[in-house]
Order: sequence, then structure tokens, then C-alpha cells
Amino acid sequence: MPASKPDAPTRLTAEAARARHAALSEAIAEADRLYHQEDAPEISDAAYDRLRRELETLEAGFPELSGTGAASAAVGAKPSEKFAKVRHAVPMLSLGNAFADAEVEEFVARVRRFLNRPADETLAFTAEPKIDGLSLSLRYEHGRLVTAATRGDGETGENVTANARTVRDIPQALAGAGWPAVCEVRGEVYLSHADFAAINARQAAAGKALFANPRNAAAGSLRQLDPSITAARPLKFFAYAWGEVSEAIAATQSGVLARFAAWGLPVNPRTVTCETAAEMIAHYGNIEADRAGLGYDIDGVVYKVDDLALQRRLGFVSRSPRWALAHKFAAQEALTVVEGIDINVGRTGSLNPLARLRPVTVGGVVVSNATLHNEGYVKGVGGDGEPIREGRDIRVGDTVIVLRAGDVIPKVMDVVLDKRPADATPFVFPDTCPACGSRAVREINPRTGAPDAVRRCTGGLICPAQGVERLKHFVSRNGFDLEGFGQTYIEVLFEAGLVRQPADLFRLDFARLKAAIVARREALSAERREAGVPAPKKATKKKGEEEDKAIHNLLAAVADRRSLPMNRFLFALGIPDIGESTAKALARRFSDFSALGAALAAAGAAKAGPDWLEFSAVPRIGPTTRDRLLEVGLPGEAAGDAVDGQDGEPPVVGVAKIRFSTSQRASLLAHYGSEAAIHEAIAKAAAQRPGDAYRVFADDGEIGPVATDSLIAFFSEPHNDAAVSALLDEVAVEPMAATAQAAAFAGKTIVFTGTLERMTRNEAKATAERLGAKVSGSVSARTDLVVAGPGAGSKLTDAERHGVRVVSEDEWVAMVAGA
Ligand code: IVH
Repeated sequence: MPASKPDAPTRLTAEAARARHAALSEAIAEADRLYHQEDAPEISDAAYDRLRRELETLEAGFPELSGTGAASAAVGAKPSEKFAKVRHAVPMLSLGNAFADAEVEEFVARVRRFLNRPADETLAFTAEPKIDGLSLSLRYEHGRLVTAATRGDGETGENVTANARTVRDIPQALAGAGWPAVCEVRGEVYLSHADFAAINARQAAAGKALFANPRNAAAGSLRQLDPSITAARPLKFFAYAWGEVSEAIAATQSGVLARFAAWGLPVNPRTVTCETAAEMIAHYGNIEADRAGLGYDIDGVVYKVDDLALQRRLGFVSRSPRWALAHKFAAQEALTVVEGIDINVGRTGSLNPLARLRPVTVGGVVVSNATLHNEGYVKGVGGDGEPIREGRDIRVGDTVIVLRAGDVIPKVMDVVLDKRPADATPFVFPDTCPACGSRAVREINPRTGAPDAVRRCTGGLICPAQGVERLKHFVSRNGFDLEGFGQTYIEVLFEAGLVRQPADLFRLDFARLKAAIVARREALSAERREAGVPAPKKATKKKGEEEDKAIHNLLAAVADRRSLPMNRFLFALGIPDIGESTAKALARRFSDFSALGAALAAAGAAKAGPDWLEFSAVPRIGPTTRDRLLEVGLPGEAAGDAVDGQDGEPPVVGVAKIRFSTSQRASLLAHYGSEAAIHEAIAKAAAQRPGDAYRVFADDGEIGPVATDSLIAFFSEPHNDAAVSALLDEVAVEPMAATAQAAAFAGKTIVFTGTLERMTRNEAKATAERLGAKVSGSVSARTDLVVAGPGAGSKLTDAERHGVRVVSEDEWVAMVAGA
């Protein structure tokens, strides 16, 4: 799916519009293909409609784009190769969509404007349920069914006559009399809910894949090469339109439907005629209210101008008639029962709870799974401690409300407590990873002091759920750059158990690699045979040679990576929050692994305690105030010298250099409850301050507390440590490849003084640090360089006294240029 947000076309440049248009067209064409050809949609109807609408809006703003791109004219998808093709004498088109009542009003107004219809003249519309099945065109000649064709791409469909003949709702011969000699009847093939459930039960019993919804099952059933399969599936049909007819059937849409009915064709009984938008909207409301009881899926109501002469005048805009509108239903809810709660492990190790539901149709899709987001969502407690669903938790056995909005993954919205079984127990969220058994923890966010919403597996490199993704990252270009292993080989080798952790890559040999690849190839062809797909041509000798060569190349690439710079090694490990720049920052400070390991162990021991973290997270207490409070304690309300209050508030009290405002005091009081409790909290927090060993990482602008905690957590897991040790047995770590400038500044101490004119002090500091230098605030004999801008004072004198080199800002800029 292409990038996300629709943009108002007026704000787009023509170039951006063209790019967006191309991306949308491609996405729509792909969705069409999956829906119509594979009967296996991957996006929801609502998401599809959004794409279509965005395309239309874009084309309205950039008319030159209309008619270009893969999707603009196509309706549906190219007919499948499986069936003979049928060219539709009259194309099978689609309908414009609306969701809001206002759009219906606008549709009626538009039609009236177009027809120049005076306000005092009525205008009739039919309102018919929009059946959620697949459209079919039935060609009757002299009253006998001769051809049945699917829509295909709207121009050419698939010949499914033999299958359609097995559908009991479809007459082989039209009843009564008066039908045109050539009469193409169009309508929708669908399955009832009951029949759909029975078909899926049979599929399940036969160990076959289940259909996602009645529409897919109907499509899958009609588009069978073997008509006996279609015959075994009780497909149904509603007629609502027509194609080529050798003479007019009636003067109105409702008249045609009446004649269809007289000829023995099923027409939908919930069709009415309306004269105003208000009546149409009211009918839509009635149908929506009865939707669940209809016994088959509908996804909206279709309005059509009743008078066919007016329909002809109105005509078409690109792919849809100006005289019709599909008023679609919004997101749907349904009640069902939670049969289980599963935990999936994501590729970053997140433990994702998923509700296994008693299957239920929600807005035309059978839902049997729904996301439960995270531990707190199951418990009914939000990240901020606020209740979710008024605190109702979700338990196995609960009856829940499931919502399917535009998204593909439905949500459990609420619990019906009245229906909770007496023996339902609260769900116990696991604290070990279901994939590898490692501990699963909710890290404390060092910035807020609160636990993360997501519980994560600490298994890192040894967790199979994370393993493949981690290994792919390990071999990626900026890691070990063993791209030959790419996507497929890593998966094959992981599944074969040959490569489970990075070190395993370095222990591969030709025979084992070859054996895994051959085994995989054979498994694939067995699968194909079972699925009835013709086997590909037998591997030739030449192919075998090519494969051998590829294996040799892989092994040569591995041999080439027996040593790697520290930064790439660190990045390749895939530690959460350690991207390339953090890896470089670490590599600049630690040139070998044992030094980093020792520093991290010390940092782990010097981590702040929970009381300090809690104190740090109190609103309005910034780090400076926090540190001063922990040093000098809470100033008494009347004590000390008054200093300026913060935020323009009246000054309150100052003790030594502490700035402390009434609102800060109020915030502490709100958090801790009483003055005494604040005193106690300060004492405890002061005792749990992070030590210097922690602060060298956490206070480093290029590392920070989040990455620091992540590193500590990673290396404190024995299995991660073991995996890294195993890797270090195979690979030598070199110091980071230093750039010329970096070499010049590595380990140097620099002091900036005076006013910098070409950059801020922060930027200058960041540049110096990036190049390996330490920035200090005071000049001593150990200072290597002083960068002095205008107004430099005592530091310049100090520099001269210690014989430290002094350069101007311009000179400094030249020194670091290009770095
Ligand atoms: S009229 C030119 N009427 O909805 C208009 N279509 O989204 C021909 N559909 O392709 C369609 N119920 O497959 C019409 N009562 C109804 C319908 C209906 C379902 C389907 C049909 C059409 C699609 C458009």
C-alpha cells in the first residue's frame, strides 16, 4: 500500500499530484486484482473506498490525470485466465459512494440541477439494498439462458455459464411472456449467512482454508472450474439491472424490477421508491436497523433515478452513472464471545494480546480475531492509569462488542458485564515470552518513570519470534553487509535450525548450506504438487551449478566479514533504540567490547531507583529544580530570600540558588499529598539518585537515558551476552573507522568561549562531540583547543597562561568543514 495521507489537491504540486496519483492507481489496481481475481482481499472495503475517493478528489483537482494510471478506468480486475472470456455488449459499471447524509442530499440536488428540474416538480428514486456479493450478467435469448458472465474488468468478464446453471435462483428459462428476444439480466450472486457458516464448517472439517466472508465464499464458489463444486454451494441471486436488451423492458427502474419478478427472477423485497433525500435517508435508516436480521450481507443502499429516460439524459461520469449512488454503511459492531486470548510476539519482542473470537460477521466480514492492543487494554487500565471502558477488564468467556472500522484488524470495544460467566477469571498476562520462555518485562521509561504500555520479550537474539527479523537486520547493509543472505536464505536457514543466532552464520559450511537449500526446494515442490500446481521444469544441471556457485559466494562473503568496525558490529546486534548514530557515539567512546561491557555493568548498578524516577516525573519539576531540591531539600514556605517566580508567577521563596514557584509546590503537593510526604519523597529520591557510571551514558546528548536503559537491559540478559560472546569468538571487532577530522579531534578537550556568530553553542558542542572531542566549560592545562568568539574574557587569558592553542570561530569552521 502506498504512503498514507490524502492531501488536499490544491496544496499539491503537479508533480506531487502525479506521483500520488500513480501510487493510488497502483494500490487500487492491486486491491482490485486481489478482490476480483484472487477472491482474497487484503484491505477492507472502507479502506478501498477511501483510496477511490482520494483518487477522485485528486482527479478533480488535476483533470489532466484522469484516465491515466492503472486504476482510473478499470472496474474490477482483468478476467482470470482460467475461464473463457465474454465481452459485455454493454459495460458493467460501478457506483459512486456516499457515507454521510449530506452527500445524499447533495446527490439529489446535483441530479435536479443537471436535469434543470423545478423545485415544485417531484423526482422519484428507487432505494434498493446494496447486496454484498459479486455481480453477474445473465444473457437470455428467446427466454433461455445462454451465457452467464462475471464482471471481470467491466468490459470483459469470465464465462461461468456452466456454474450459473447450478444456481437454483437463476431460471434456465424466463417465465411468463413479453421478454425481449435478447435480454441481459444483471444482478448479484450471494450466499446467506447460514449457508456461509455451513460451507466454512465443511471447509474446516476437510482441513481447508476458511473463507473470510460470505462474499468471498460466493465468489470462490461461482468461479470454480468444476461446476459440481458450485452446485454443492447454495448460491442465491437478486436481479437489479440489465445490459443489452433488444427492446425496452419498462419506462422506470421499478417497472423493470416488477417485470423481472414476473419472469421468475428474484428481486429484493426491500426496494422502495422515494421522492426526497429525506425519504431516502429514512429508508436507509430502516434497512440499516434491520440489517442483522436479513440473513445475508448488504453493505448499503443504492439510490437510482426511477425514470429511465432521465437516466439516459444523466448519463455517466467515467466509471459510474450520474443517476445512481451507493449510500454505504459505516463501521459495524457485533456481539460475540471471547474464546481465548493469545499472545503473539512481534518482531521487536512486543507481546501482543489477540482475542480469539467466536466467528461473527461484522459489516460483511467474518471476524474471528481482534486486537487487544496491550496488557493495560485487557486489564481496563490506560497508560496514564486512567480507566479504559470504565475499568472493565476483558476475560475469556466474556461477551464483547467488536468493531470493524476501516481497518483490517477489528477491535474489541467493550465488555457486556451482564453476560460474564460466573467462573470467568481475570486474564493473567504472561511475564515470560510464549515463543522462547525468556522473561517479558515492561521497561520503566526513564523519562517518565512509568512502565511502558508494551511488555517485551527479553530473549532478543535467542527468541525465535524475533530471531528471523533480527538476523535479517544483522546481515543488512549497514550491519554485517551479508546481503546475499537476504530475505529467503535467512528464513530457510532459520527454519532448518542451521542459523539461530548471528554466530551460526560463521559456522556454516558448503554441505550444510546445500542440504538446507535442497530440502527447502523439495518441500516447496511437494507443497505445489499437493495444491495441484504443475511442477516447474526439473532442475537442470546448469541450474545446480548456479546454485553451487551462489553457495560458494555466500561463504566467501562470510569469510570476508571476520572483522568489522565496532559501530557496525553494535548496530548489527539490533538492540532496541540503538540506531546507527547511537552505535557510532558508543564506538567513539569505547573502542573495544570489553570496555563497553564493563562500563555498562557499572551503569546498570548505578541506575536510579524507583523513588528518584517517580520524583523526576512530577509535572513542572525540571531536572535543575529536581537536582537542587534533592540537594537542599524542600524550602519552607516563608524561608529564604525571595527570588523571581517562574512563568511570570509571583516569587515565592528561594533557598540558596533554588527557584521554586507556587505552582511547582502545588504540583508536588498534588502528587505526594502532603508537605511531610514531599520531605520523605525527597529523602528517598536523593538516596536513589543515578550514579556517575550511569550518567556518563544517560547524560550524554548522543546516547541519552532511553538507549542507555536499552543497552543495560540487553546485556544484562545472560543469553544475549552469550550470543554476543559466541559472535566475538568468530569475529574481530576493530575500532571505528575514523575520518581524518575525527582522528584529529578524538579524545581532545575543546572549550568554546565568547559569542559564536555562525552557529549556536549547542551546535558547536554537538559537532565537536561528533568528531570525538570532549567539550569542557573551563580551560586548564589539559585543554587542547579554545575556540574564541568576540567578547571572550577570562578563558582567553587562561588559555594564554596554559599555552593552549586558540582559534577563531571561522578557523574552527574550516577545521571541521566536511566532517
Ligand atoms: S446497480 C451501473 N444495484 O454494487 C450500476 N448494484 O459498487 C450497476 N450492487 O457493481 C449497479 N446491489 O455489484 C446496483 N441494488 C443494486 C446493487 C448493486 C449490489 C453491486 C454491484 C455493483 C456494485 C457497485
